[in-house]
Amino acid sequence: MAAVDAGWTVIGVDNFEAKVAQINSGSSPVEDIADAQLQAAIAKGAYKATTDFSKITHASVITICVPTPLDDNREPDISLLRSAVISIAPFVSNEALVISESTSYPGTMREVIIPIVESHKPRDSVTIYFASAPERIDPGNKLWNQKNTPRLVGGINHESQVKAIAFYESICDAAISVSTPEVAEAAKLLENTFRLVNIALVNEFTQLCSASGINVHEVIEAAASKPYGFMPFRPGVGVGGHCIPVDPLYLTWWARQNGRTAAFVESADSINHEMPKYVAQRALAIVDAKVSNPKVLILGVAYKPGISDVRETPASELRNQLKAQGADVAWHDPLVSEWEGSKPVALDWECDVVILAINQPGIHVEKFIAKGIQILDCTNSMKGHAGVTSL
Ligand SMILES: NC(=O)c1ccc[n+]([C@@H]2O[C@H](COP(=O)([O-])OP(=O)(O)OC[C@H]3O[C@@H](n4cnc5c(N)ncnc54)[C@H](O)[C@@H]3O)[C@@H](O)[C@H]2O)c1
Repeated sequence: MAAVDAGWTVIGVDNFEAKVAQINSGSSPVEDIADAQLQAAIAKGAYKATTDFSKITHASVITICVPTPLDDNREPDISLLRSAVISIAPFVSNEALVISESTSYPGTMREVIIPIVESHKPRDSVTIYFASAPERIDPGNKLWNQKNTPRLVGGINHESQVKAIAFYESICDAAISVSTPEVAEAAKLLENTFRLVNIALVNEFTQLCSASGINVHEVIEAAASKPYGFMPFRPGVGVGGHCIPVDPLYLTWWARQNGRTAAFVESADSINHEMPKYVAQRALAIVDAKVSNPKVLILGVAYKPGISDVRETPASELRNQLKAQGADVAWHDPLVSEWEGSKPVALDWECDVVILAINQPGIHVEKFIAKGIQILDCTNSMKGHAGVTSL
Protein backbone atom coordinates (compact mmCIF):
# COMPACT_ATOMS: atom_id res chain seq x y z
CA MET A 1 0.00 0.00 0.00
CA ALA A 2 2.95 2.31 0.62
CA ALA A 3 4.08 1.68 -2.96
CA VAL A 4 0.55 2.28 -4.25
CA ASP A 5 0.47 5.59 -2.36
CA ALA A 6 3.77 6.49 -4.04
CA GLY A 7 2.27 5.96 -7.48
CA TRP A 8 3.52 2.46 -8.25
CA THR A 9 1.33 -0.20 -9.80
CA VAL A 10 1.64 -3.19 -7.50
CA ILE A 11 1.00 -6.90 -7.95
CA GLY A 12 0.91 -8.98 -4.76
CA VAL A 13 1.98 -12.55 -5.46
CA ASP A 14 1.19 -15.18 -2.84
CA ASN A 15 0.85 -18.96 -3.00
CA PHE A 16 -2.03 -18.98 -0.50
CA GLU A 17 -5.12 -18.93 -2.71
CA ALA A 18 -7.62 -18.10 0.04
CA LYS A 19 -5.64 -15.02 1.05
CA VAL A 20 -5.38 -13.84 -2.56
CA ALA A 21 -9.15 -14.26 -2.98
CA GLN A 22 -9.78 -12.41 0.28
CA ILE A 23 -7.56 -9.49 -0.78
CA ASN A 24 -9.10 -9.25 -4.26
CA SER A 25 -12.55 -9.17 -2.66
CA GLY A 26 -11.42 -6.01 -0.82
CA SER A 27 -11.03 -7.55 2.64
CA SER A 28 -7.66 -6.71 4.19
CA PRO A 29 -5.89 -9.54 6.06
CA VAL A 30 -3.49 -6.99 7.60
CA GLU A 31 -4.84 -5.17 10.67
CA ASP A 32 -2.98 -1.93 9.92
CA ILE A 33 -4.47 -1.71 6.40
CA ALA A 34 -8.14 -0.71 6.31
CA ASP A 35 -10.50 -2.41 3.86
CA ALA A 36 -11.36 1.01 2.38
CA GLN A 37 -7.70 1.70 1.55
CA LEU A 38 -7.32 -1.70 -0.10
CA GLN A 39 -10.60 -1.32 -2.00
CA ALA A 40 -9.58 2.14 -3.29
CA ALA A 41 -6.24 0.74 -4.54
CA ILE A 42 -7.97 -2.15 -6.31
CA ALA A 43 -10.65 0.14 -7.79
CA LYS A 44 -8.11 2.48 -9.41
CA GLY A 45 -6.17 -0.49 -10.86
CA ALA A 46 -3.10 0.19 -8.73
CA TYR A 47 -3.19 -3.10 -6.83
CA LYS A 48 -4.14 -6.70 -7.46
CA ALA A 49 -3.23 -9.98 -5.77
CA THR A 50 -2.51 -13.17 -7.68
CA THR A 51 -1.17 -16.70 -7.27
CA ASP A 52 0.29 -16.50 -10.78
CA PHE A 53 4.05 -16.01 -10.49
CA SER A 54 4.36 -15.36 -14.24
CA LYS A 55 2.92 -11.86 -13.58
CA ILE A 56 6.38 -11.06 -12.18
CA THR A 57 7.55 -10.70 -15.80
CA HIS A 58 6.00 -7.20 -15.72
CA ALA A 59 7.81 -6.09 -12.56
CA SER A 60 10.77 -3.71 -12.51
CA VAL A 61 11.05 -4.13 -8.73
CA ILE A 62 10.38 -7.43 -6.93
CA THR A 63 10.26 -7.38 -3.14
CA ILE A 64 10.27 -10.72 -1.34
CA CYS A 65 8.72 -10.74 2.13
CA VAL A 66 7.84 -14.31 3.07
CA PRO A 67 8.05 -15.75 6.60
CA THR A 68 11.43 -16.87 7.95
CA PRO A 69 10.52 -18.95 11.02
CA LEU A 70 12.43 -21.52 13.08
CA ASP A 71 12.36 -25.26 12.48
CA ASP A 72 11.69 -27.94 15.12
CA ASN A 73 15.29 -27.61 16.34
CA ARG A 74 14.79 -23.86 16.79
CA GLU A 75 17.17 -23.17 13.90
CA PRO A 76 16.55 -20.94 10.84
CA ASP A 77 13.98 -22.37 8.45
CA ILE A 78 14.42 -20.51 5.17
CA SER A 79 12.53 -23.10 3.11
CA LEU A 80 9.68 -20.66 2.32
CA LEU A 81 12.20 -18.06 1.25
CA ARG A 82 13.98 -20.57 -1.00
CA SER A 83 10.70 -21.75 -2.53
CA ALA A 84 9.54 -18.17 -3.12
CA VAL A 85 12.83 -17.34 -4.87
CA ILE A 86 12.62 -20.52 -6.98
CA SER A 87 9.06 -19.54 -8.01
CA ILE A 88 10.08 -15.99 -8.85
CA ALA A 89 13.35 -16.65 -10.66
CA PRO A 90 12.03 -17.88 -14.05
CA PHE A 91 10.07 -14.63 -14.44
CA VAL A 92 12.66 -12.02 -13.44
CA SER A 93 13.06 -9.64 -16.38
CA ASN A 94 16.29 -8.12 -17.60
CA GLU A 95 17.27 -5.05 -15.50
CA ALA A 96 14.79 -5.95 -12.73
CA LEU A 97 15.67 -5.24 -9.11
CA VAL A 98 15.18 -8.14 -6.64
CA ILE A 99 14.95 -7.11 -2.99
CA SER A 100 14.65 -9.30 0.07
CA GLU A 101 12.73 -7.78 2.97
CA SER A 102 12.56 -11.08 4.88
CA THR A 103 14.58 -11.22 8.07
CA SER A 104 17.47 -13.68 7.80
CA TYR A 105 21.10 -14.25 8.71
CA PRO A 106 23.92 -12.31 7.00
CA GLY A 107 24.78 -13.94 3.70
CA THR A 108 21.23 -14.93 2.76
CA MET A 109 21.10 -12.54 -0.20
CA ARG A 110 24.59 -13.34 -1.51
CA GLU A 111 24.72 -17.08 -0.76
CA VAL A 112 21.10 -18.19 -1.15
CA ILE A 113 18.94 -15.77 -3.14
CA ILE A 114 21.36 -14.60 -5.84
CA PRO A 115 22.59 -18.12 -6.82
CA ILE A 116 18.97 -19.35 -7.16
CA VAL A 117 17.89 -16.37 -9.28
CA GLU A 118 21.03 -16.51 -11.42
CA SER A 119 20.58 -20.23 -12.15
CA HIS A 120 16.81 -20.14 -12.84
CA LYS A 121 16.36 -16.74 -14.53
CA PRO A 122 15.29 -16.39 -18.20
CA ARG A 123 18.20 -16.56 -20.67
CA ASP A 124 17.68 -13.00 -21.89
CA SER A 125 17.70 -11.57 -18.34
CA VAL A 126 21.37 -10.61 -18.56
CA THR A 127 21.54 -8.11 -15.73
CA ILE A 128 19.63 -8.44 -12.46
CA TYR A 129 20.08 -6.07 -9.51
CA PHE A 130 19.91 -7.26 -5.89
CA ALA A 131 19.53 -5.62 -2.48
CA SER A 132 18.56 -6.44 1.10
CA ALA A 133 16.18 -4.04 2.84
CA PRO A 134 14.81 -5.77 5.95
CA GLU A 135 11.20 -5.10 6.88
CA ARG A 136 10.85 -2.94 10.00
CA ILE A 137 7.09 -2.75 10.45
CA ASP A 138 5.69 -2.79 13.99
CA PRO A 139 2.09 -4.06 13.74
CA GLY A 140 -0.40 -1.93 15.63
CA ASN A 141 2.05 0.95 16.09
CA LYS A 142 0.09 4.12 15.39
CA LEU A 143 3.16 6.38 15.35
CA TRP A 144 5.78 4.47 13.34
CA ASN A 145 4.76 2.96 10.03
CA GLN A 146 6.12 1.86 6.68
CA LYS A 147 6.45 5.45 5.48
CA ASN A 148 8.06 7.24 8.39
CA THR A 149 10.36 4.43 9.58
CA PRO A 150 13.77 4.81 7.90
CA ARG A 151 14.69 1.82 5.74
CA LEU A 152 18.16 0.24 5.57
CA VAL A 153 19.24 -0.66 2.06
CA GLY A 154 22.28 -2.77 1.17
CA GLY A 155 22.84 -3.44 -2.55
CA ILE A 156 25.08 -6.12 -3.97
CA ASN A 157 26.84 -3.50 -6.15
CA HIS A 158 26.67 0.22 -6.90
CA GLU A 159 23.96 -0.04 -9.59
CA SER A 160 21.78 -2.19 -7.32
CA GLN A 161 22.23 0.29 -4.50
CA VAL A 162 21.22 3.28 -6.64
CA LYS A 163 18.08 1.51 -7.86
CA ALA A 164 17.10 0.18 -4.43
CA ILE A 165 17.61 3.54 -2.73
CA ALA A 166 15.47 5.21 -5.42
CA PHE A 167 12.71 2.67 -4.81
CA TYR A 168 12.70 3.09 -1.03
CA GLU A 169 12.99 6.86 -1.27
CA SER A 170 9.78 6.73 -3.29
CA ILE A 171 7.88 4.85 -0.55
CA CYS A 172 9.65 5.89 2.70
CA ASP A 173 10.61 9.25 4.16
CA ALA A 174 14.22 8.05 4.50
CA ALA A 175 16.27 5.27 2.93
CA ILE A 176 19.67 4.69 4.52
CA SER A 177 22.54 3.25 2.49
CA VAL A 178 24.73 0.57 4.01
CA SER A 179 27.72 -0.87 2.20
CA THR A 180 26.57 -4.48 1.66
CA PRO A 181 23.48 -6.70 1.95
CA GLU A 182 25.21 -8.41 4.90
CA VAL A 183 25.29 -5.14 6.88
CA ALA A 184 21.54 -4.65 6.35
CA GLU A 185 20.83 -8.29 7.29
CA ALA A 186 23.04 -8.11 10.40
CA ALA A 187 21.57 -4.75 11.47
CA LYS A 188 18.09 -6.28 11.46
CA LEU A 189 19.28 -9.10 13.73
CA LEU A 190 21.00 -6.59 16.03
CA GLU A 191 17.82 -4.47 16.31
CA ASN A 192 15.66 -7.38 17.40
CA THR A 193 18.34 -9.01 19.55
CA PHE A 194 18.74 -5.68 21.36
CA ARG A 195 15.09 -5.94 22.36
CA LEU A 196 15.36 -9.61 23.33
CA VAL A 197 18.32 -9.16 25.67
CA ASN A 198 16.94 -6.03 27.30
CA ILE A 199 13.60 -7.73 27.92
CA ALA A 200 15.49 -10.71 29.39
CA LEU A 201 17.51 -8.37 31.61
CA VAL A 202 14.41 -6.76 33.02
CA ASN A 203 12.68 -10.14 33.39
CA GLU A 204 15.62 -11.43 35.41
CA PHE A 205 15.77 -8.20 37.40
CA THR A 206 12.06 -8.58 38.18
CA GLN A 207 12.65 -11.97 39.77
CA LEU A 208 15.54 -10.62 41.85
CA CYS A 209 13.51 -7.62 43.04
CA SER A 210 10.43 -9.69 43.81
CA ALA A 211 12.46 -12.09 45.95
CA SER A 212 13.62 -9.09 48.00
CA GLY A 213 10.22 -7.39 48.21
CA ILE A 214 11.23 -4.51 45.92
CA ASN A 215 8.75 -3.16 43.35
CA VAL A 216 10.60 -3.54 40.05
CA HIS A 217 8.34 -1.04 38.28
CA GLU A 218 9.32 1.67 40.71
CA VAL A 219 12.95 0.72 40.14
CA ILE A 220 12.55 0.99 36.35
CA GLU A 221 10.84 4.39 36.66
CA ALA A 222 13.60 5.57 38.97
CA ALA A 223 16.38 4.40 36.64
CA ALA A 224 14.58 5.95 33.65
CA SER A 225 14.91 9.39 35.25
CA LYS A 226 18.53 9.32 34.05
CA PRO A 227 18.46 11.38 30.87
CA TYR A 228 21.22 9.44 29.09
CA GLY A 229 22.50 5.88 28.84
CA PHE A 230 19.31 4.13 29.96
CA MET A 231 16.24 2.93 28.09
CA PRO A 232 13.34 1.43 30.05
CA PHE A 233 12.08 -2.07 29.18
CA ARG A 234 9.20 -3.76 31.01
CA PRO A 235 8.88 -7.28 32.38
CA GLY A 236 6.18 -9.60 31.11
CA VAL A 237 5.07 -13.18 30.55
CA GLY A 238 7.84 -13.62 27.97
CA VAL A 239 8.43 -12.56 24.39
CA GLY A 240 6.09 -13.41 21.54
CA GLY A 241 5.41 -12.77 17.90
CA HIS A 242 7.35 -13.89 14.90
CA CYS A 243 10.29 -11.49 15.27
CA ILE A 244 11.71 -10.92 18.76
CA PRO A 245 11.77 -14.58 19.91
CA VAL A 246 12.79 -15.82 16.44
CA ASP A 247 15.33 -13.47 14.88
CA PRO A 248 17.96 -13.70 17.66
CA LEU A 249 18.09 -17.44 17.01
CA TYR A 250 19.10 -16.66 13.44
CA LEU A 251 21.96 -14.79 15.08
CA THR A 252 22.95 -17.63 17.44
CA TRP A 253 22.81 -20.12 14.54
CA TRP A 254 24.88 -17.83 12.33
CA ALA A 255 27.45 -17.51 15.13
CA ARG A 256 27.71 -21.31 15.38
CA GLN A 257 28.18 -21.58 11.61
CA ASN A 258 31.18 -19.30 12.04
CA GLY A 259 32.61 -21.35 14.89
CA ARG A 260 31.49 -18.86 17.56
CA THR A 261 28.93 -18.88 20.36
CA ALA A 262 26.54 -16.00 21.02
CA ALA A 263 26.42 -16.94 24.72
CA PHE A 264 24.85 -13.69 25.89
CA VAL A 265 21.96 -14.00 23.42
CA GLU A 266 21.42 -17.68 24.24
CA SER A 267 21.26 -16.84 27.93
CA ALA A 268 18.71 -14.06 27.25
CA ASP A 269 16.62 -16.46 25.21
CA SER A 270 16.51 -19.02 28.01
CA ILE A 271 15.62 -16.39 30.65
CA ASN A 272 12.66 -15.27 28.55
CA HIS A 273 11.61 -18.88 28.02
CA GLU A 274 11.57 -19.44 31.78
CA MET A 275 9.27 -16.46 32.40
CA PRO A 276 5.93 -18.26 31.83
CA LYS A 277 6.93 -20.82 34.49
CA TYR A 278 7.82 -18.02 36.90
CA VAL A 279 4.53 -16.18 36.16
CA ALA A 280 2.56 -19.40 36.72
CA GLN A 281 4.27 -19.89 40.09
CA ARG A 282 3.59 -16.29 41.10
CA ALA A 283 -0.09 -16.60 40.14
CA LEU A 284 -0.63 -19.88 41.97
CA ALA A 285 1.17 -18.54 45.04
CA ILE A 286 -1.65 -15.97 45.33
CA VAL A 287 -4.32 -18.69 45.57
CA ASP A 288 -5.26 -20.13 48.94
CA ALA A 289 -3.08 -23.24 49.43
CA LYS A 290 -6.19 -25.23 50.44
CA VAL A 291 -7.59 -24.98 46.88
CA SER A 292 -6.36 -28.20 45.27
CA ASN A 293 -7.38 -27.48 41.68
CA PRO A 294 -7.16 -23.68 41.29
CA LYS A 295 -9.08 -22.07 38.47
CA VAL A 296 -6.97 -19.55 36.57
CA LEU A 297 -8.19 -17.10 33.93
CA ILE A 298 -5.59 -15.71 31.50
CA LEU A 299 -6.66 -12.31 30.20
CA GLY A 300 -5.04 -11.42 26.87
CA VAL A 301 -3.43 -14.19 24.84
CA ALA A 302 -2.20 -12.28 21.77
CA TYR A 303 1.55 -11.71 21.85
CA LYS A 304 1.13 -7.98 22.42
CA PRO A 305 -1.68 -5.46 23.02
CA GLY A 306 -3.81 -4.12 20.20
CA ILE A 307 -3.46 -7.05 17.82
CA SER A 308 -5.02 -10.50 17.40
CA ASP A 309 -1.75 -12.26 16.45
CA VAL A 310 -1.03 -15.27 18.70
CA ARG A 311 2.10 -16.49 16.92
CA GLU A 312 4.75 -17.53 19.47
CA THR A 313 2.66 -15.99 22.25
CA PRO A 314 4.15 -16.69 25.69
CA ALA A 315 0.57 -17.24 26.91
CA SER A 316 0.86 -20.67 25.34
CA GLU A 317 3.70 -21.78 27.63
CA LEU A 318 1.98 -19.99 30.53
CA ARG A 319 -1.08 -22.15 30.01
CA ASN A 320 1.08 -25.31 29.82
CA GLN A 321 2.91 -24.37 33.00
CA LEU A 322 -0.30 -23.62 34.90
CA LYS A 323 -1.77 -26.95 33.83
CA ALA A 324 1.44 -28.75 34.77
CA GLN A 325 1.16 -27.16 38.21
CA GLY A 326 -2.39 -28.54 38.63
CA ALA A 327 -4.51 -25.58 37.56
CA ASP A 328 -7.72 -25.52 35.57
CA VAL A 329 -7.03 -22.83 32.95
CA ALA A 330 -9.33 -20.71 30.77
CA TRP A 331 -8.67 -17.59 28.73
CA HIS A 332 -10.30 -14.48 27.33
CA ASP A 333 -9.08 -11.96 24.75
CA PRO A 334 -11.43 -9.45 23.07
CA LEU A 335 -9.40 -9.67 19.83
CA VAL A 336 -8.93 -13.45 19.67
CA SER A 337 -11.89 -15.74 18.91
CA GLU A 338 -10.01 -19.04 18.83
CA TRP A 339 -6.60 -20.04 20.12
CA GLU A 340 -4.76 -23.36 19.72
CA GLY A 341 -8.07 -25.14 19.13
CA SER A 342 -9.78 -23.65 22.18
CA LYS A 343 -12.48 -20.99 22.61
CA PRO A 344 -12.48 -18.12 25.11
CA VAL A 345 -14.68 -18.21 28.19
CA ALA A 346 -17.07 -15.42 29.18
CA LEU A 347 -15.76 -12.90 31.70
CA ASP A 348 -18.09 -14.25 34.40
CA TRP A 349 -16.17 -17.57 34.47
CA GLU A 350 -15.69 -18.37 38.16
CA CYS A 351 -11.97 -18.37 38.97
CA ASP A 352 -9.55 -18.16 41.87
CA VAL A 353 -7.02 -15.89 40.22
CA VAL A 354 -6.77 -13.79 37.06
CA ILE A 355 -3.51 -13.28 35.17
CA LEU A 356 -3.56 -10.05 33.21
CA ALA A 357 -1.03 -11.18 30.60
CA ILE A 358 -1.23 -8.24 28.20
CA ASN A 359 -3.14 -4.98 28.37
CA GLN A 360 -5.48 -5.78 25.50
CA PRO A 361 -7.97 -2.99 24.65
CA GLY A 362 -11.47 -3.93 25.78
CA ILE A 363 -10.36 -5.88 28.86
CA HIS A 364 -12.04 -4.52 32.00
CA VAL A 365 -10.30 -5.92 35.04
CA GLU A 366 -12.37 -3.76 37.40
CA LYS A 367 -15.17 -6.37 37.31
CA PHE A 368 -12.85 -8.95 38.87
CA ILE A 369 -11.63 -6.49 41.48
CA ALA A 370 -15.26 -5.75 42.42
CA LYS A 371 -15.87 -9.49 42.88
CA GLY A 372 -12.84 -9.77 45.17
CA ILE A 373 -10.87 -12.00 42.76
CA GLN A 374 -7.10 -11.73 43.05
CA ILE A 375 -5.21 -10.50 39.99
CA LEU A 376 -1.60 -10.98 38.95
CA ASP A 377 -0.91 -7.98 36.74
CA CYS A 378 1.91 -8.61 34.25
CA THR A 379 1.31 -5.25 32.55
CA ASN A 380 1.76 -2.80 35.45
CA SER A 381 -1.45 -1.09 34.34
CA MET A 382 -3.46 -1.81 37.53
CA LYS A 383 -1.06 -0.50 40.15
CA GLY A 384 -2.60 0.82 43.34
CA HIS A 385 -5.77 -1.28 43.10
CA ALA A 386 -6.65 -3.53 46.03
CA GLY A 387 -6.38 -7.21 45.18
CA VAL A 388 -3.85 -6.60 42.40
CA THR A 389 -0.32 -7.99 42.63
CA SER A 390 2.19 -6.59 40.16
CA LEU A 391 4.66 -8.92 38.50
N1 LIG B 1 5.00 -8.67 9.99
C1 LIG B 1 5.87 -8.07 10.78
O1 LIG B 1 5.54 -7.50 11.80
C2 LIG B 1 7.33 -8.07 10.43
C3 LIG B 1 8.17 -7.07 10.98
C4 LIG B 1 9.51 -7.09 10.64
C5 LIG B 1 10.00 -8.09 9.83
N2 LIG B 1 9.17 -9.05 9.34
C6 LIG B 1 9.73 -10.09 8.49
O2 LIG B 1 9.04 -10.11 7.26
C7 LIG B 1 8.97 -11.44 6.77
C8 LIG B 1 7.53 -11.82 6.48
O3 LIG B 1 6.80 -11.79 7.68
P1 LIG B 1 5.22 -11.62 7.70
O4 LIG B 1 4.81 -11.55 9.09
O5 LIG B 1 4.82 -10.54 6.76
O6 LIG B 1 4.79 -13.00 7.09
P2 LIG B 1 3.33 -13.59 6.88
O7 LIG B 1 3.19 -14.76 7.78
O8 LIG B 1 2.31 -12.53 6.93
O9 LIG B 1 3.44 -14.20 5.41
C9 LIG B 1 3.51 -13.39 4.29
C10 LIG B 1 2.92 -14.13 3.15
O10 LIG B 1 3.88 -14.97 2.54
C11 LIG B 1 3.16 -16.00 1.88
N3 LIG B 1 4.07 -17.04 1.46
C12 LIG B 1 4.70 -17.96 2.21
N4 LIG B 1 5.49 -18.73 1.45
C13 LIG B 1 5.36 -18.30 0.17
C14 LIG B 1 5.92 -18.68 -1.07
N5 LIG B 1 6.80 -19.67 -1.12
N6 LIG B 1 5.55 -18.01 -2.16
C15 LIG B 1 4.67 -17.01 -2.08
N7 LIG B 1 4.11 -16.59 -0.95
C16 LIG B 1 4.45 -17.22 0.16
C17 LIG B 1 2.14 -16.40 2.91
O11 LIG B 1 1.05 -17.08 2.31
C18 LIG B 1 1.73 -15.05 3.48
O12 LIG B 1 0.56 -14.54 2.88
C19 LIG B 1 9.63 -12.34 7.82
O13 LIG B 1 10.96 -12.56 7.46
C20 LIG B 1 9.55 -11.49 9.07
O14 LIG B 1 10.59 -11.80 9.97
C21 LIG B 1 7.84 -9.05 9.60
